[in-house]
Formats: sequence, structure tokens, C-alpha cells
Amino acid sequence: MSDNVCIDEKRCRTELVGEVDGKKVYFYYLTNSAGMELCICNYGATIVSLKYPDRTGEFADIVLGFELLEKYRNDAYVACNPFMGGVVGRFANRIGGASYTIDNIIYKLEKNNGQNCLHSGSHGFDKVVWDSTPLLVGKWNCIELTYVSADGEGGFGGTLTTTVIYSLTDNDEVKISYRATTDKPTVVNLTNHAYFNLSGEGTESVLDTVVTISADNFTPTDFLQIPTGELMSVSETPFDFRNPMTIGSRINDIHDQLVLGNGYDHNWVLNKEKSDELSLAATAYDPSSGRFMEVFTTEPAIQFYTGNNLNGTLLGKSGKPYVARSGFCFETQHFPDSPNKPHFPTTVLRPGETFLSSTIYRFSLR
Ligand code: BGC
Repeated sequence: MSDNVCIDEKRCRTELVGEVDGKKVYFYYLTNSAGMELCICNYGATIVSLKYPDRTGEFADIVLGFELLEKYRNDAYVACNPFMGGVVGRFANRIGGASYTIDNIIYKLEKNNGQNCLHSGSHGFDKVVWDSTPLLVGKWNCIELTYVSADGEGGFGGTLTTTVIYSLTDNDEVKISYRATTDKPTVVNLTNHAYFNLSGEGTESVLDTVVTISADNFTPTDFLQIPTGELMSVSETPFDFRNPMTIGSRINDIHDQLVLGNGYDHNWVLNKEKSDELSLAATAYDPSSGRFMEVFTTEPAIQFYTGNNLNGTLLGKSGKPYVARSGFCFETQHFPDSPNKPHFPTTVLRPGETFLSSTIYRFSLR
């Protein structure tokens, strides 16, 4: 780890906020030329805050999170377990039956979601301290974070070395680059679990946010939220976001998939001309503030989750309770339960291969 001095010090501030498992934990504040500010914590490689102006120039923090490290670790947080802002891994989303097989070896994972493993269990990448250092990549201030997950950790096989780089550009983009290698065959699916509220965290609802998702199909699930394996057309369903729709306009429709997810909590299959291309996956627009967000990714899919399981027990940075649907997540990813669905794009990583993935959140005003 470096001495925590950023090359462009004016645009990078480091604050020591505590210690976990004997390792120092920092909040890193990056700013760009327009004054946008991104705060990253090396506990969980977490996006803690993101400050962006509205049409009148007034800044608000547009991601849910906490001002204190302790609030990401206390009993209330663990009970709600929202994976708030963290990097989820080594396998984001659900693995059915909490088990998978590679090369005839069965791997048994933690069952932390009924019979399933959700987001790699109770001690995944969002709950560990990453090695971290600020650095300049090209023109942009970045935070580079590395975590070495031991062979057998959480039940997964293979030592997995993961590096995540967050950059804040002068084009008002937060760019996340992921890279991972392994010493034994394993499965990898990495995402960021930030909850956005473009009106500002602490405002009660995101139901008026207007969303698009570039997807003709999604993966419907069974009652345990495991994909059935089919792709379902979004046509004439509340899952059709090919044209702009507010989140709230259809979220309470009588549709069995909405009932199963208690709202939107599904994986959309992104329309792509070429797999791995960086393409527009989704947008979100908040008419009241004018804040507009675009999501680009190299990943084949996105989990659009409307914070249905937030239950008001956690008080956020402005002291307001985080209630259901007060934030939404755009989790760029491979499909849930891919390890058990051979016809889904593969999530297997073998020694000698490099997992690479990029996601960009770009912000502007309308
Ligand atoms: C899942 C939800 C879950 C949430 C917080 C999302 O990615 O799809 O079902 O409640 O994470 O754990």
C-alpha cells in the first residue's frame, strides 16, 4: 500500500475513519473540476457518498449510506443487510441451493437467503477491508482497491485476487473497473450495490424517477427468486422500460413476478450487438431536480432493484430512515445462478484467464 498521498492532492483527500480486523479503514474523497465529490471507503470497497448539483446548482448526496464506519457494521445493519454501496463478490446475486459444481467438484456455500446464497454470504467482499491507494490514471484521480480472497473462503474454491478501480472524471462520470484472477477454477460475478436517489438520499421515495432499461428480455424467477432459466419478453409487462417510465407507474401491478420480488428485483438481459461491449444499459431521471444518470457496462445484464427490503430501521447520513423504495440499484452483472444454468453466459474463471469488467455511471442535468 502506498503512503496514501494522491498525485493531485487538491482533488483527493484521505481520512482515517477506524480499524477493522487490524487493518486501517479510510474514507477517500475525490472531487472533479465541477465540484462533484465521490467518497469511497476501503471497507467493502464502498461508495459512501456522491455529491452532485441540481439544475439550480445546489448539491445533494445522491447515494444512500452512512457517515460513520460503525454504521456499516452494527447489529441493525447486519440484520437488514442491504449491501449498501459495497462491491459484492466473489459472486453477486443468488446461487440456488447455495451450491455449484465445477469439474465434478461440488462447492457448498453459506445459505443466507433461505436455501440460497445471496451476494456470497454474510462475509463477502462488501464486509472486508481492501488494500487501497489513491492514484492518477491518465488525467483522473482514482482509488485502487485490492482484495485477495483465500481458497475456500465462503465455500468458493480458488484464491481470487480482485482489483477494483474507481475513477471520477471531469465528464461527471464514476467509472468502476474490475479485474480478477484465480489459481483454481472458480466462479466470479462482481457488481457495485449503490442505492441511488437522485432527489437526494433521505428523501422518501424513488417512485417518481423515470427509468429506461435497454433490454427486450428479463430472467423470471421462482418463488425463491432463483431464475427459472427462461428468458421472458418484457413486451406488454411492467418490466418493459424500453421507453421511459416512472418506477411507480406499474410497480404495484398484479403481476406474479412483481409479487415474488415485492417490486422490481430482477435481472434484465441487456440488448448488445457484441458481448463484452461497453453499451448503454439504463438511465434514470429525476424531474424535480433535473438530475439524469446513464449506466454503461460491459456486463451482459443488470439487476434493477427498487430497495424493496429496506425497512426503515437504518438512519442515513441526513438522519432520515431508509424506507422501502427510497433508493434503487442498477447492479451490472452476469445472470443470477449462472453457475447452475449452463445455458447462461458463463461465470467460470480458470487459472490463466483474467476477468475484466467496466461500468460507468454518468451524470448530467436536464
Ligand atoms: C437483491 C435483493 C436483496 C438486496 C439486499 C439485491 O441485490 O436482489 O433481493 O434484498 O440485494 O440484500
